[in-house]
Amino acid sequence: MSSTISTFLTSLSSTDKAVLAAGGVWIVYLLSRSNGGPAPLPPGPRPLPLVGNMFQIPQKDEWPVYEAWAKKYGRPRRDSLPVNTFVTLAVLGPITYLTMLGTPMIVLNSLKAIRELLEERSATYSNRPLMAMKELCDLDWVLTYISGEPHRVRRATVQRYFSGPASVKHRHHQQEESRVLAANLLRRPDALDDHIKQHTSSSILLGTYGYRVSGTDDPIVHEMERSFKQAEELNGPLAFLIEIGPNLKNWPNLLSLSGFRKTVDEIKHVFNACRVDPFKRSRNMIDDGTAVPCFVSTSLDTISSETSLSPIEVEKKEELIMDCASVMYAAATDSTSCTLRCFFALMALHPEVMRRAQEGIDNVTETERLPTFDDWERLPYITAIILEVLRYNTVTPLGLPHGVAKDDIYDGILIPKGSMICANVWLIYHDPEIFPDPYSFKPERFMGENGARGREVMNMTWGFGRRTCPGKQFAEAVLFITVSTVITCFDIEPKRSSTGEAPTLTFYDGFIRRPKPFPMTIRPRSDKWAWLLDP
Ligand code: HEM
Repeated sequence: MSSTISTFLTSLSSTDKAVLAAGGVWIVYLLSRSNGGPAPLPPGPRPLPLVGNMFQIPQKDEWPVYEAWAKKYGRPRRDSLPVNTFVTLAVLGPITYLTMLGTPMIVLNSLKAIRELLEERSATYSNRPLMAMKELCDLDWVLTYISGEPHRVRRATVQRYFSGPASVKHRHHQQEESRVLAANLLRRPDALDDHIKQHTSSSILLGTYGYRVSGTDDPIVHEMERSFKQAEELNGPLAFLIEIGPNLKNWPNLLSLSGFRKTVDEIKHVFNACRVDPFKRSRNMIDDGTAVPCFVSTSLDTISSETSLSPIEVEKKEELIMDCASVMYAAATDSTSCTLRCFFALMALHPEVMRRAQEGIDNVTETERLPTFDDWERLPYITAIILEVLRYNTVTPLGLPHGVAKDDIYDGILIPKGSMICANVWLIYHDPEIFPDPYSFKPERFMGENGARGREVMNMTWGFGRRTCPGKQFAEAVLFITVSTVITCFDIEPKRSSTGEAPTLTFYDGFIRRPKPFPMTIRPRSDKWAWLLDP
């Protein structure tokens, strides 16, 4: 949320202002129409007219503020404020209710509320918010944005190839790519971010399209990254106004006058390119006989084996595969890259953890070979390190926002239909009741029986209900094989200042916490692994 809002405050172009002006008129219209009605909402800090709580929501590190609000306004009261307009703000213990430009935004601050709403009432809480902007851009085929039956069908298609036991078939590539990463680090230890990007892109593009990425200037990666940047606009400031405004599809003149049509056309173009181009490339590889087994080639094989299908049915099924494949890059790379970059920095800052992990791996491999997936069960400390990296620097501190499908009552409180709802995962991961001494980096908290509760709570990393990450097993495998390979091959140290101080790990603001560059030295532990350069 904070990124959305900070972007809003700082990056308004003339196009934005024109749309804002139109939106302002629309809000006044909505207000004049609203007749309120009794709403079981407790009081809280007052929102501003028109903009709601836009200026009260902190622009960075907002999760402790939600905690403070939850404590301050914790006493429920039935209030007569109108619901679903931008003048409502209520905070109730574990639930914080805000509005921005007419869109209700809810933050869940307790494990109980998160589970009861996002998991147990998943049917109501598994939409995606801010859909009007995406519909305007004709993105009703993008799995990560859509809801209902089209979402269910796409999700099931992805799960069949990436989740559960099926996820094991990716391990061969994942292991190979972890060794490519190690070889690249031996060659150019100062280019960590480039190597991680190549590694995460290649891992998912191999699994999806059978396409190996050989460097940072890869054309497919470039295309995917463009759509990634455009995607940020889709949840950006204008999305809030468009959500409550008139359907701009029916107002083509307003769309053109505001200059906004150009942005919409650009988004459509970029998304379509990364849907069609890599798919065509995979199909050409099948025709050439050079395709390797991957999501696209295997799915197309299955479709061609179904001889009873009509040409139209074949076309529809192929389009479904094309749709699903196109979201995998964006869904997989950023979160995995951020986690790996945090891992390197945290190893540099915690040499005692790194040494203990190296000893554990050396015991298992007898320093004769690199770790493989067969070693996974015998390396619980590696799993503990990965969990602690995910907890300590929570990649998605507020999860990914869900949308509320219909009005719901929880503990006597109205959760309005159309609200954007987020889980304050950061707060749970730093709750001393669950994770004692939460601001210390301690992988051992996840070891053995004592670590069972923590391990179970960490499932929140992958989201909730019908939206839970379908790439969980794929990501866990990439993280395991990469982390264990790196720990086996390298020593990592922080590059200290002239006064001997280690750098601190800091982050850019945003829904995904992307680490800022962290100066470190990465050295091979021994010459033994030099063969990696020429396997
Ligand atoms: C460290 C790595 C990763 C983390 C922390 C992560 C986390 C998440 C989270 C929090 C969500 C949103 C869930 C929700 O809305 O409740 C999500 C969605 C998703 N993730 Fe991941 N993910 C990771 C890697 C991957 C990988 C490798 C893939 C693909 C193989 C993937 C595919 C997806 C997809 C397709 C969705 C959208 C699900 C939907 O909207 O139904 N993720 N992920």
